Amino acid sequence: MTAHLRLGVNIDHVATVRNARGAGYPDPVRAALVAAAAGADGITAHLREDRRHITDDDIARLSEQLTVPLNLEMAATDEMLGIALRHRPHAACIVPEKREELTTEGGLDAAGQHNRLAPLVSELRNANIRVSLFIEPDARQIDAAIRLGAPVVELHTGRYAELAGAAQAEELRRLADAAALAAKNGIEVHAGHGLTYDNVAAIAAIPQVRELNIGHFLVGEAMFVGLGEAVRLMRSAMDQAR
Ligand code: PXP
Repeated sequence: MTAHLRLGVNIDHVATVRNARGAGYPDPVRAALVAAAAGADGITAHLREDRRHITDDDIARLSEQLTVPLNLEMAATDEMLGIALRHRPHAACIVPEKREELTTEGGLDAAGQHNRLAPLVSELRNANIRVSLFIEPDARQIDAAIRLGAPVVELHTGRYAELAGAAQAEELRRLADAAALAAKNGIEVHAGHGLTYDNVAAIAAIPQVRELNIGHFLVGEAMFVGLGEAVRLMRSAMDQAR
């Protein structure tokens, strides 16, 4: 039987709506608690260098109040390393970050940035934070994750989500091959970016994938059905595919 597939709910865009007005609502911490009560296995939040959505105070409150694991998404910078070491989240996912981008575009170049990432990965690991690298489904990047000693990789599904037809099928094959290669080398496989009720099944069906991180779509759906119901529907789409 295929192992349980965890759902990490990314609450960044609850903070985006809050920050559009600079008011104190909607509160991403409240969203995290609702998501957890509805069956999310963990909460994911990206503290961007420009603080455009999640803030330092959000991370502090999430660290205090959550009863499910927190996965902190962070750029590979000294500032973010310091914040991670201070709050000691369950997990830290290292993502590439460019100030001008709308969202995380493409995976981390783990292969090209080995020397920069190696000390960061080992400091996080020494603090018992489970490190994950957000990478493209590419054998070269997985080899780099192995060399860096990362216990987890998160495969970027953004391209898969944008494509259709034969090109999407080809990208799905790359994801499945990358998941198999990583798992064969003892790396736990997560996936995420751009996942919706309509495209999640094929990713959830990849047997080596153990966790999906999903945010933007769920926060959008929450406007129509409520966040708890959106999380339950996603959970059920994932379970059906498994
Ligand atoms: N995983 C990672 C590493 C991400 O950077 C993001 C976006 O912040 C997600 C998952 C979630 O993507 P989406 O919001 O498109 O569901």
